[in-house]
Amino acid sequence: MTTTLITGANKGLGRETARRLVEAGHTVYIGSRDAEKGRRAAEELGARHVVIDVTDEDSVTAAAATIEADGGLDVLVNNAGIEGRTADNGIVAPADETVDTLRPLFETNVFGTLRVTHAFLPLLNRSAAPVIVNVASGLASMALIATPDAPAGFYPGIAYPASKTAVNMLTVQYAKAFPNMRINSVEPGFTKTDLNGNSGTQTVEEGAEVIVRMAQLGPDGPTGGFFSASGPLPW
Ligand SMILES: NC(=O)c1ccc[n+]([C@@H]2O[C@H](COP(=O)([O-])OP(=O)(O)OC[C@H]3O[C@@H](n4cnc5c(N)ncnc54)[C@H](OP(=O)(O)O)[C@@H]3O)[C@@H](O)[C@H]2O)c1
Repeated sequence: MTTTLITGANKGLGRETARRLVEAGHTVYIGSRDAEKGRRAAEELGARHVVIDVTDEDSVTAAAATIEADGGLDVLVNNAGIEGRTADNGIVAPADETVDTLRPLFETNVFGTLRVTHAFLPLLNRSAAPVIVNVASGLASMALIATPDAPAGFYPGIAYPASKTAVNMLTVQYAKAFPNMRINSVEPGFTKTDLNGNSGTQTVEEGAEVIVRMAQLGPDGPTGGFFSASGPLPW
């Protein structure tokens, strides 16, 4: 039996990934910073739930202790993330970006991913087929965002792409350090969720596709890569 934790799984892409992995036979923990939202999603999907705020050390440590006591972990999906839009759903312009607008994105997307990974590495190391999926973004790609006519080239903001590029670096370095694990970054594509004020063009079913696929990699699968639903992406 494969046991999987998905952070930020009470809604959006995380919830859809949880739904699909339950369907595929995984024992899934819905990670949610709000206990009630997590409980409700877990009940609806036939999953378990655990409170986890990726910015809070104690909550992450407690979640790891709970899952360890229940029997351990095989698959970690670092999905919790924020984009940090303005109040009217706009993207912060480079001239308005400050350390204060950047910091929360790094706290959640980068430090959160590292904090959760660090806490769960000992559990994953005891799995026969450990897998980590880091939900990055196409905007993490330096090659794509620097290409004016690529879709990512139009994105003006600094904080979100910078945080997701840092997530990709975590993927590469963890993958080298833990060759026993399959550790990859994924780009779900522009998906209609609360993250972007539901302005995305894909459904969560379409967006979760690559997350679900990479969460189910066997020991022969790729590691240290960056993938969208249609294949490998440039860093
Ligand atoms: N949607 C897209 O177009 C798109 C494209 C590329 C990548 N992504 C990435 O996909 C991932 C999922 O995003 P989404 O589009 O599904 O957005 P979403 O619907 O807003 O879901 C984000 C999830 O992350 C959780 N979260 C935020 N901060 C957290 C924290 N400190 N601790 C724990 N959970 C936290 C949210 O919990 P609450 O409900 O408590 O806020 C929510 O469950 C993110 O990493 C995002 O960057 C999305």
